[in-house]
Amino acid sequence: MTALTDQSDYKTVSFSQTTITELMIPSYSNFGGKIHGGILLSLMDKVAYVCAAKHAGNYCVTASIDTVDFLQPVEVGELVSLMASVNYVGKTSLVVGIRVVSENIKNNSVMHTNTSYFTMVAKNEDNKPVKVPGLILENREQVRRFIESRRRKEIKQSYMQEVEQIQMPDNYEHCIALLLGERCLVAGE
Ligand SMILES: CC(C)(COP(=O)(O)OP(=O)(O)OC[C@H]1O[C@@H](n2cnc3c(N)ncnc32)[C@H](O)[C@@H]1OP(=O)(O)O)[C@@H](O)C(=O)NCCC(=O)NCCS
Repeated sequence: MTALTDQSDYKTVSFSQTTITELMIPSYSNFGGKIHGGILLSLMDKVAYVCAAKHAGNYCVTASIDTVDFLQPVEVGELVSLMASVNYVGKTSLVVGIRVVSENIKNNSVMHTNTSYFTMVAKNEDNKPVKVPGLILENREQVRRFIESRRRKEIKQSYMQEVEQIQMPDNYEHCIALLLGERCLVAGE
């Protein structure tokens, strides 16, 4: 942590907090009449961008999304609100936490559909990553979110190292043996 003597290169969380609300229209729905997951993903990317670019004061790109699980289906006619705030800043990257809720205006119910974390990277005119301002944490919740975000980043790094090992070339006969009990057939075996 840095002592808050010079706050010029730091911004508060509230400075970039962003909410987008959008009506779910029939053209957003899939064959089952529910809203396409891709529509929600696109809205999440949009709100993440606005929040990140505001904090960074620069153009930002989406580097990764930590995870999207749709907890509830969203219906046509509902109002979807996406609330975004910067949870963590690194050097050139920052993590935007997004909470998505869907409101049924007829019966006044509000449902939490998902929470996701978008890692965004600030870029300069030459398309190179550029330093982002630090974050001023003003309450316990913001401190908790910052620490949780850093922990999530550490867990992802060790997960990625494990995934790299999965991708290492393996012995074919060994692979076939590992398929025992799986619902697949290997042609020619
Ligand atoms: C993401 C991207 C900027 C990383 O570029 P890079 O040259 O590898 O940059 P670096 O290795 O210096 O990493 C820059 C920062 O991004 C972070 N980062 C890079 N890849 C990441 C990933 N997959 N997940 C999370 N963070 C990531 C690094 O940790 C680093 O953060 P820090 O500066 O806060 O420590 C680059 O790969 C890119 O531009 N990707 C395309 C993004 C895009 O177009 N998105 C829209 C979807 S089409």
